[in-house]
Amino acid sequence: MAIANTPRKILVTSALPYANGSIHLGHLVEYIQTDIWVRFQKMQGHTVHYVCADDTHGTPIMLRAEKEGITPETLIGNVHKEHSADFSEFLVAFDNYYSTNAPENKELSQGIYKKLKAAGKISTKTIEQFYDPVKNMFLPDRFIKGECPKCHAKDQYGDSCEVCGATYNPTELINAYSAVSGAAPVRKETEHYFFKLSECEDFLKNWTRSGTLQGEAANKMGEWFENGLNDWDISRDAPYFGFEIPDAPGKYFYVWLDAPIGYMASFKKLCSDKGFDFDEYWKQDSTTELYHFIGKDILYFHALFWPATLEYSGYRKPTQIFAHGFLTVNGEKMSKSRGTFITARSYLDHIKNPEYLRYYYAAKLNSTMEDIDLNLEDFVARVNSDLVGKYINIASRTAGFINKRFEGKLNPSANNAVVAEIKAAAQLLADSYAEREYGKALREIMRLADLANGFVAEKAPWVLAKQEGQDALLQEVCSDALEMFRLLTLYLKPVLPKLATEIEQFLNIAPLTWAVVDASLPVQHGINSYEHLITRVDIKQIEAMTEANKENLQATPTPAAVSATHSEQRHAQHQQNEANAEAEEAAYISIDDFTKVDLRIARIANAEHVEGAEKLLKLTLDIGEEKPRQVFAGIKSAYDPATLVGRLTVMVANLAPRKMKFGLSEGMVLAASDERGGPFILSPDSGAQPGMRVK
Ligand code: 2FM
Ligand code: ZN
Repeated sequence: MAIANTPRKILVTSALPYANGSIHLGHLVEYIQTDIWVRFQKMQGHTVHYVCADDTHGTPIMLRAEKEGITPETLIGNVHKEHSADFSEFLVAFDNYYSTNAPENKELSQGIYKKLKAAGKISTKTIEQFYDPVKNMFLPDRFIKGECPKCHAKDQYGDSCEVCGATYNPTELINAYSAVSGAAPVRKETEHYFFKLSECEDFLKNWTRSGTLQGEAANKMGEWFENGLNDWDISRDAPYFGFEIPDAPGKYFYVWLDAPIGYMASFKKLCSDKGFDFDEYWKQDSTTELYHFIGKDILYFHALFWPATLEYSGYRKPTQIFAHGFLTVNGEKMSKSRGTFITARSYLDHIKNPEYLRYYYAAKLNSTMEDIDLNLEDFVARVNSDLVGKYINIASRTAGFINKRFEGKLNPSANNAVVAEIKAAAQLLADSYAEREYGKALREIMRLADLANGFVAEKAPWVLAKQEGQDALLQEVCSDALEMFRLLTLYLKPVLPKLATEIEQFLNIAPLTWAVVDASLPVQHGINSYEHLITRVDIKQIEAMTEANKENLQATPTPAAVSATHSEQRHAQHQQNEANAEAEEAAYISIDDFTKVDLRIARIANAEHVEGAEKLLKLTLDIGEEKPRQVFAGIKSAYDPATLVGRLTVMVANLAPRKMKFGLSEGMVLAASDERGGPFILSPDSGAQPGMRVK
């Protein structure tokens, strides 16, 4: 895509993060990706507005506030402060960061609903849903748990099984229970409001063909069309934290109805603060551009519901939707036990410099929906070698001579071949940024940095500095190197905006825009003294960060001591499942929950080492059943297997069987441990028999 020179008017959004959790490194992929694009477009001289907001509505937020004994408004106010600080410290420069629980959003959501209704796109239907008779509320799928209908694993969510991966309806769960109160849910009828998506197929098919989606996303749409579009349930019953549906007392908009409208609301607030024209950007035939950056997990909402909602309520549609992949850390899903579930705050506390992460993500990002991997060792190597070793090195090896020997004055040559080559890359780099091919851009920039370093090495200013009569050449070489440094800084500015600002001060130049690539540092231009610009990142900082984030599973004096995988999977799964707005489970368990845990006295019939396992012993446990259970327990550090045979202990007998590297684990033995020692397995008093229930 060539860069248009005519100024454009562009509105850009990133997905709205839920107001019920902290920003983590997974979230930051998207905000950094968007921010780089926005900064690049602003440097092109276009008018760009970048808006976002907290996504504040829904059951999880309502229940969390209740648990914390505060109002949902207080909760989302606190989270808004936390999120805003995180974004600003990562240099994500929103023009407005708002909240979906804002008057503008209420007005827009209710207005859009009324227009959809007037267009005949709303219907009502009585449906049957699970209802918590203790809590007196309907239960979202994620708040119903029970036994998987396929593999019979216990305690699975109402929509999918974490053990066998099956997806199903909550009605299919065996022995379902409410994750809020523990009560058995009852089925209850309720009237719901639907957006008739099934009638929008022709419009959506046309819209998909208009170049709004990446290839992979358009293919996904094709699959959805093939399966047929279902009407979309946009209502929820009270109690619900959200906006009431007009003329429908006790009914609220489902969080996903008002969330994308939050993009409009945030922009509306910006317009009233700054005097911009809201309608110019949102009217049906707007000539402005609208781009949504999202994760691939929420494509359905943005490529189906959202354009259809806009179309039938009389607004413009997005120009393009840019979906990215998920983040893995060290090749795996982020994990609390490995310490790789890292919050934005924890990164800032340990690594300090947000631009390292911006640089690393940019180096990995392209325009596809592929997942990207943050390899922590590679992160250290790449930041140190590219930013410190290649880029900053150009200035640190040359600026001192200009400062000390020439009173800070430059005298560049009229035509330096390396400078010319760096300048010539401007269009390619601009295209790469515009196309979100940041990895390609950074590879080219580092190639140019190599050329600049090659020039410096060849001219060896430190040698010239010691030679008689070489002053003019020394000044010219160092001036040219600083011109190269200026150009590379310009190219890196969307990624490293803070460093670029510091360098602008050092070079004593106006804020760099793309246009000044054609200019040069003039003869006799005075620079400021060179101060140290960047420090190396140390692998020890990474180690400290992952250590601090580690949920110390060995030290948890609970059954988790011997079985990490369940909770790990939950968090990783949760991260991927954020599209399910109703994803957070209650932190306390009820007595009913507790009695669901089937604790049994077990006799250790056999215990043996497991080849290749550092921490595990393989136990054969007799709990009076026909077939003894095989359980892998992380107790190798504390027990010689021979001493365990014949002992009685306590096991969780109804834990879902888990496939482990070494075989199937059919339960879990309990053991205590913390920094004082352990693990210590439990023993019953004499008289206990294998198979007895522990209550
Ligand atoms: O998946 C999520 O995290 C949602 N909170 C994203 C909402 S984006 C927009 F549509 F509001
Ligand atoms: Zn299952």
